[in-house]
Amino acid sequence: MTSPILETRELSVRFGGHVAVDCVSCAFEAGSLTAIVGPNGAGKTTWFNAVSGQLKPSAGEVWLGGENITALSAPMRTRRGLGRAFQLTQLFAQLSVHENLRLAVQAQAGLGLGLRDLVTRWSTRKDLLERADALLESVSLAAQRDQLAAALPHGDQRKLEVAILMALQPRVFLLDEPTAGMSLDDVPVILDLIRALKRQGDATILLVEHKMDVIRELADRIVVLHEGRLVADGEPAVVMTSSVVQEAYLGRRANP
Ligand SMILES: Nc1ncnc2c1ncn2[C@@H]1O[C@H](COP(=O)(O)OP(=O)(O)OP(=O)(O)O)[C@@H](O)[C@H]1O
Ligand SMILES: [Mg+2]
Repeated sequence: MTSPILETRELSVRFGGHVAVDCVSCAFEAGSLTAIVGPNGAGKTTWFNAVSGQLKPSAGEVWLGGENITALSAPMRTRRGLGRAFQLTQLFAQLSVHENLRLAVQAQAGLGLGLRDLVTRWSTRKDLLERADALLESVSLAAQRDQLAAALPHGDQRKLEVAILMALQPRVFLLDEPTAGMSLDDVPVILDLIRALKRQGDATILLVEHKMDVIRELADRIVVLHEGRLVADGEPAVVMTSSVVQEAYLGRRANP
């Protein structure tokens, strides 16, 4: 592997006496899509939280693009290109769908943060509006453009979350069950977006997903967590048939 874009080194997270993430060392190559799988409570979300900075690890390090970012806050990690889907509570509930997205596009363009040259702001404004509209189109939310974010049904809020994440153009996408709780109609919209991201080729994607057919189609690699530990890591065809996955994840014994 060339130098990895993202790496965790012996990363552990303890909650009291419970070890939710147990000494996980794993490196990710730029432009790859890795599925993170494991049973409920395996530590997938906690690992993501420690990577993105929502949680302080009990031990170990997180590296991004060759820099040790373990001591950095979540917003500082975001600015360095680590993209975690916004939590729903972080949507601006009283702004419209389009305004939420425009703020994200503006933030990515480096505008709207402190004093800026007004001329720049005006000359780029049209571009930003168009980019926000294109992103709305891509998540099939164009018809909801002027609705308040708070008024959207859950599935549409999740689509808006993903669109905001895209707007920030991170180097690394952390997608934690992006289609969870969505209606069957909405799931393909999100999967199409992930496919498109993968086709672009430069984004690194970590995807926590339970749907095996999705993993089979999209993943270049599968990492399996079980009781906080990394128990398997490799090519999908190999990992999916390994006894550790058959037993630990799928809950059945491998054929002898
Ligand atoms: N804030 C917390 N305080 C205490 N324990 C926690 C906390 N967050 C998670 N845990 C525990 O840590 C373990 C790992 O949880 P985590 O949510 O990371 O699992 P997961 O793999 O994401 O599971 P799922 O597939 O259900 O989303 C679980 O035993 C969980 O109960
Ligand atoms: Mg989880």
